[in-house]
Amino acid sequence: MTFTAQILTLYPEMFPGPLGTSLAGRALSEGKWICDPINPRDFTTDKHRSVDDTPAGGGAGMVLRADIMAAAVDQAIENHPKVPILAMTPRGKPLTQARVREIAAGPGVTIICGRFEGFDERLFDARPIEEVSIGDYVLSGGEMGALVLLDACIRLLPGVMGASSSGDDESFENVILEYPQYTRPQIWEGRIIPEVLRSGDHAKIAAWRKQRAEEDTRLRRPDLWERHRDSPDQSPSGAQEKDKDKE
Ligand code: ADE
Repeated sequence: MTFTAQILTLYPEMFPGPLGTSLAGRALSEGKWICDPINPRDFTTDKHRSVDDTPAGGGAGMVLRADIMAAAVDQAIENHPKVPILAMTPRGKPLTQARVREIAAGPGVTIICGRFEGFDERLFDARPIEEVSIGDYVLSGGEMGALVLLDACIRLLPGVMGASSSGDDESFENVILEYPQYTRPQIWEGRIIPEVLRSGDHAKIAAWRKQRAEEDTRLRRPDLWERHRDSPDQSPSGAQEKDKDKE
């Protein structure tokens, strides 16, 4: 079954956007995923085609109406009843690689993009919608978040990534950050590629990579490092670890 992305957006022209190029773009033209934007404005009933209204209780900006958004969501459910429905909002649960993997393993996703001051909360009471955030900052709308989520999913679809193993050692797949990479030229602006990587000794290279991945994670992402210490069977190499506490 082809992975189908339905995107509920007031700006359907933003899709596939950057996902029409590079890896995702090739996968799209090869039929490995389908991009189906749906405009909630098409579900309005008044002559102004209004999707929003002023916030109850006062305040700045406009709020997306529950009735209009629900009509668009119902159409999306009718099209694809078995896919999860996500709403992009800074009030949502932070997106993780684990959730991306689950979504990519399924038949597709429906993504609702917010605009203005957000959604009428009753939409989330009335429909099975998962609120998702892509980070602790505020975007002008959910479209960029939807693109981020889709990019993360599409690269994991079968046959999309060039080398099938290239996803294995990556940051967050195994709780800690990936080790740093180098390529030719061997010397650049007086900086030389670490000697061990030029040694051809695969065991030494693996040990160096493991050590750098751990050190970088500890320094850059103490939050991830703490989690890693709590689940000792996971490392960038997938190897069992024993001595993390000694460092
Ligand atoms: N819409 C606005 N800000 C957002 C965020 N941080 N994540 C997801 N959707 C958003």
